[in-house]
Parts: sequence; C-alpha cells; structure tokens
Amino acid sequence: MFTKDSIIGVVGCGAMGSGIAQVAATAGHKTIVYDSNAAALERARTQLEESLAKLVGKQKISAEKASEISKLIVFTGALADLKVSKLVIEAIVENIEVKQSVFRQLESVVTEHCVLASNTSSLSITSIASACSRPERVLGIHFFNPATLMPLVEIIPGIATDMVIANHCQALVNSFGKVTVMAKDTPGFIVNRVARPFYSEALRIYEEQLADMATIDWAMRELGGFKMGPFELMDLIGHDVNYIVTETVWKQFYYDPRFKPSLSQKRLLEAGFLGRKSGRGFYDYREGADQPKPLKDEALGKYILNRILCMLINEACDTLYLGIASATDIDLAMTKGVNYPKGLLAWADEIGLAQVLVSLNALYDEYGEDRYRACVKLKQLVKQGKLFY
Ligand SMILES: NC(=O)c1ccc[n+]([C@@H]2O[C@H](COP(=O)([O-])OP(=O)(O)OC[C@H]3O[C@@H](n4cnc5c(N)ncnc54)[C@H](O)[C@@H]3O)[C@@H](O)[C@H]2O)c1
Repeated sequence: MFTKDSIIGVVGCGAMGSGIAQVAATAGHKTIVYDSNAAALERARTQLEESLAKLVGKQKISAEKASEISKLIVFTGALADLKVSKLVIEAIVENIEVKQSVFRQLESVVTEHCVLASNTSSLSITSIASACSRPERVLGIHFFNPATLMPLVEIIPGIATDMVIANHCQALVNSFGKVTVMAKDTPGFIVNRVARPFYSEALRIYEEQLADMATIDWAMRELGGFKMGPFELMDLIGHDVNYIVTETVWKQFYYDPRFKPSLSQKRLLEAGFLGRKSGRGFYDYREGADQPKPLKDEALGKYILNRILCMLINEACDTLYLGIASATDIDLAMTKGVNYPKGLLAWADEIGLAQVLVSLNALYDEYGEDRYRACVKLKQLVKQGKLFY
C-alpha cells in the first residue's frame, strides 16, 4: 500500500507535527506540512533547520543527509496542497470539533486511496472518524514527544477502521525506524492509561503524608530503577499537561476511582506552578532555592516502590484483560514510550503474581476503596498458578 514514493501529509506544525514531518522525511518520504497559522509555519521551518544542524554538529547525520531531509519537507498554508498525499497525519489542537472539521475538509481534498490519521493523545478515534464519509480509512497514529527521539508509536484503529489499512500503517511507521504497538480505541490508549498510577499513587502517598516527594522520587529512582521519580517527572512534563491527561482519562472512564486526579496537583495548576517551565512546581527551580532531601529509609522506600509498582501492574493487567493490547505490546509500550526499566507484566512475573495480589488486597482491605480492586485476570492467574508469559 505504501512505498518510499508515498507522500506523507502533516496537518499542524507545532511540537508534534514538526517532529513527525522530520521523522517521515528522514525515512525518505516527501512530506507536505500544512498549518493554518503562517507564523507557526515560519517557526517550524526555522526550527527544522536548527534541529538538522544540531544533528550534523553531533555527527548523527551527514550534511548531505540533512540537506536531503530539508528538501523533502515542504511547508504550506494551503490545505489543497495535501491532495497528493497517501497518508495524512493530523497534529492540531486537541479539540474534537476542530479535528472533525479538519477531517471533513481533508476528505474533500485528498484522493480516495489516502489514509487519514490523528495524533490525538486523548480523543476517541471513532468519534473523529465519524465526521468522515469513509471512516474505514481513519485511524490513530500516536507519536510521543519529542517525535524524533521517542521510539514508540501507538497504532489505534477505531471501531470502523479497516484492519488491512491499520496493518499497512503499522508497517509504514515501522519502516520509519519506530517501535509500534497496536491498541484498541479506549481512553489513554496504552501508555497514557497504564502510566496513570505512577503519578496518582505517588500523589496519594504524598497527600497522606506517608512520605515526602523527595523520598518518593528517591525510592522510585534508586530502588525501582526508573529514570525519574514521579514528582520530578510531573514537573518536567508540566502540570498543565499531566493533570489534564489524568482528568481526561478519569472522566472518560466514567469517573472510575482508580484514575481519580489529585487536588494537590490541581492547586499547583491553579497557582501557575506548572513545573520546570514556570520555575516552580512540586520543586522550586528558582536560583538558590532549597532542595528537599530524601529520607533514604530503605523500608519506607520499599513500601513506596511496591505500592506504586503493584498499582501499575494492576493497570497493565486490566489493559490486557480487556483486550486493549497484547502482553508484549503493553510491555513494549511502557519500556519504549516512557522508558520504564522493565515491562510491567514481565516485572510482575518476576516478583510473583501471588505477591502482587497480596499487596493489592492489603491496600483494598486497608482503604476499602474500589481504587485498589485487583484485576480479575490477576486473581485468575494466581488461582491457576500461571504467569503472564
Ligand atoms: N505535545 C505532546 O506532548 C503531545 C504528545 C503526543 C500527542 N500530542 C497530540 O498532538 C496534537 C498536537 O499537539 P502539539 O503539542 O503539537 O500542539 P501545538 O499546539 O504545539 O501545535 C498545534 C499546531 O496546529 C495548528 N493548528 C491548530 N488548528 C489548526 C487547524 N484548524 N488547521 C491547521 N492547523 C491548525 C496550530 O497553528 C499549531 O501550529 C494534539 O492532538 C496532541 O494531543 C501531543
């Protein structure tokens, strides 16, 4: 379906659209980038040249390759220029009405063989596709930020998507050098769903004053092997982004308490303490500010790691149980999309599923909250003496 000659269209040249265009052009595809904002187009053009110059400086690519990539990307302010595309990836503002309207316009421009994809993080692909007269050619192709560096891409067929088209898109994105996983069209897909407890359980422990944020971060980094602790990571992502993802996933799951957002994080957002980018978040990044020191209490650290990890495993298990993705895709998604040190299901096998279940049941007994209910599949596997792999 796709060849090296297939022209890729990108709608929106913000953080994601520009990165996606660079990825496609680096793989040798002519790429046409459309944006309705002339200033954004100009900015993207400049940033592309800077990004390519940096890669040449670091000897990641040759000057010839950089010039080749640059020539393959065409920026335009006319949607009609996308008509030659074989695949169009939309990466505009995260708003369902605006996306539906753009997809409707796209259908009137492109050929009948063109595939239409959205890079949405949180909206329903099925709902975006419902605006189209041919929803079978619409799917989600979800890159992570920055698209040029993050290896993972989630492929999300909607209810009406033709699976042959979805499989061809997966092969195309694989040919870009990315690692792809297939996920059902459900809130947060794989990564943005399974990762929620990394933040929310850490926030819960913090709010209950069982440990301070520096100690929680230390435990997850030093004892768990995560690259960053939950609080430093939330500060890096920005609370405007991280809180909104949590709230969106929670609402879309009909307010399931397992996804409930945190008031402490909401207050930071209200105060404009967005994290690193605003100089303050959970931590204070202003010059000379005191940095809290972790307690480095081994027993407490192990409790923190075990509690957050078991909640992550429970979410991964539910994602498997509900057929959202395969076990290998769930583990790949978390290691390649958010750099977890191990796949969660493989990690659970290593710890012992009975041990994970004991920990979850202990939390459930203590709190009496549905949030801590163990996944049915985990209970079944323990009963049968089986593992995930
Ligand atoms: N930023 C992230 O970390 C991230 C990660 C994965 C997915 N996403 C998703 O990717 C999409 C884009 O996010 P972003 O961070 O690149 O946004 P952004 O705000 O950086 O860029 C959006 C671009 O779209 C353009 N645009 C807006 N409405 C348009 C329209 N109607 N027609 C044409 N162009 C239009 C804007 O001018 C802007 O240049 C969103 O759906 C977002 O959820 C974002």
